[in-house]
Amino acid sequence: MTAKTPSGPRKLPIIGNTHQWVKGPCEFKERAAEYGRVVNYKVIGMDSYMLTEPEDIERVLMNTGDEFHKHEQIKEQLRDAIGTGLFTSEGELWERQREAMKPAFYLEHTKNYAQSMVGRASDAADCWHDGETIGLRREMQQVTLEILLEAMLGADIDIADRGMYDAVDDLLAVLEPSKQPITMLAPDWAPIPFLRRRKEAIEHLESQVYDILESRRTSDEDRSDLMSMLLASDEEMDDEQIRDEMMTFLLAGHETSALTLTYSLHLLSQNPDVARRLREELDEVIDGKPEFEDALSLSYTESVVKEAMRLYPPAHELRRAPKTDVTFGDYLVPEGSLVILPTWVLHRDERFWDDPETFRPERWEEQGDRPEFAYFPFGGGPRRCIGQQLATLEAKLVLATLLKDWEFEREYDEIELSAGQTLQPKGDVEMTVHRR
Ligand code: HEM
Repeated sequence: MTAKTPSGPRKLPIIGNTHQWVKGPCEFKERAAEYGRVVNYKVIGMDSYMLTEPEDIERVLMNTGDEFHKHEQIKEQLRDAIGTGLFTSEGELWERQREAMKPAFYLEHTKNYAQSMVGRASDAADCWHDGETIGLRREMQQVTLEILLEAMLGADIDIADRGMYDAVDDLLAVLEPSKQPITMLAPDWAPIPFLRRRKEAIEHLESQVYDILESRRTSDEDRSDLMSMLLASDEEMDDEQIRDEMMTFLLAGHETSALTLTYSLHLLSQNPDVARRLREELDEVIDGKPEFEDALSLSYTESVVKEAMRLYPPAHELRRAPKTDVTFGDYLVPEGSLVILPTWVLHRDERFWDDPETFRPERWEEQGDRPEFAYFPFGGGPRRCIGQQLATLEAKLVLATLLKDWEFEREYDEIELSAGQTLQPKGDVEMTVHRR
């Protein structure tokens, strides 16, 4: 039997489905999923094949490196920022990097960062006033960036004086969904202010990384930050490779965490019963300030985070390309095409989730027989997020620190979303904070 070309929503000449996609990428994909196992659509010139069956998603994720690889478009878009960092590298280089970096992300090692997680969350909350309305997303971005930079470089580095916070902001600005079409289509040299600022930010961060690296290479101090771990690993890494890894952490490791915290706190503000149960757990487990060992016992808090990432997965889709023509059932997906693994769609699929739109952390305490790849906020297979344990620990400790002392109240029950590289709220998320 000859393989069929998958169907999908009707395309217009030239623009394909871009006009439908810009109105709401996630809703577009949810509707498109009704076309079946493999759905073909075209957005901003990219012919895409979206997979909707967990077993197909599993096949792609587990075989990344063999049958599939990261799509060229991602590598191209990130090349000047992260070069051949872990996120984009492939083959033998990726294998060696992953092996070298693994120990820095073991749970025992992430313990070193627990104090900074609690400390930076407390510092942020210390600046709030009872009854004040804060921009939650901005606050969480600052907290997670401080935590990440301390984990990468150590708490003794003068990060603010080195202008690194502003530079990271400029670096990440291109990921904003409204800027995505321009980022994808405009050449690097185009005279567009945010692209120029991004270039300057990369140069600035790079020079800071090299500067700190030089002092590390000449010191024999025993340190536990990520940069020092990479320098101490058996795998010899030259300065350029360490620069690429550091830039990768900056891109991959804080915006995603900030979004997880923002969505978790929004959902808690709308679900007082869940917030009450979570606080009961905090009061039972934590005496004084939260610590690493406490986080291991915060099982309901972890369910809250998991459920928030189900409803609002920061990585709302993953992308791959097949190395040769491949088939899923009867459907042909051609070599090199863009394969979309839509986290958002699977996480809200009625076949796997009862009442999928409802925020119900208790579902994680129940025995379910859903397929493993109906839920993959951190990806899966060999390219699974290396920072998963760090991010989970961070989410639990930051939530614990904030919720022990503060109540979060939000007037609006909806968050307006826009989806670029990550799933982001449109604008900030206003939240009124009350001291408990
Ligand atoms: C809630 C927070 C986070 C989420 C939702 C998240 C999500 C993801 C996902 C979905 C992938 C797989 C991408 C793909 O297969 O195409 C990934 C990979 C990666 N993440 Fe995370 N991430 C988070 C936090 C972090 C942190 C804290 C770090 C590091 C400090 C990090 C570093 C990385 C790196 C380096 C990769 C590439 C791994 C490889 O290809 O071997 N992430 N992340």
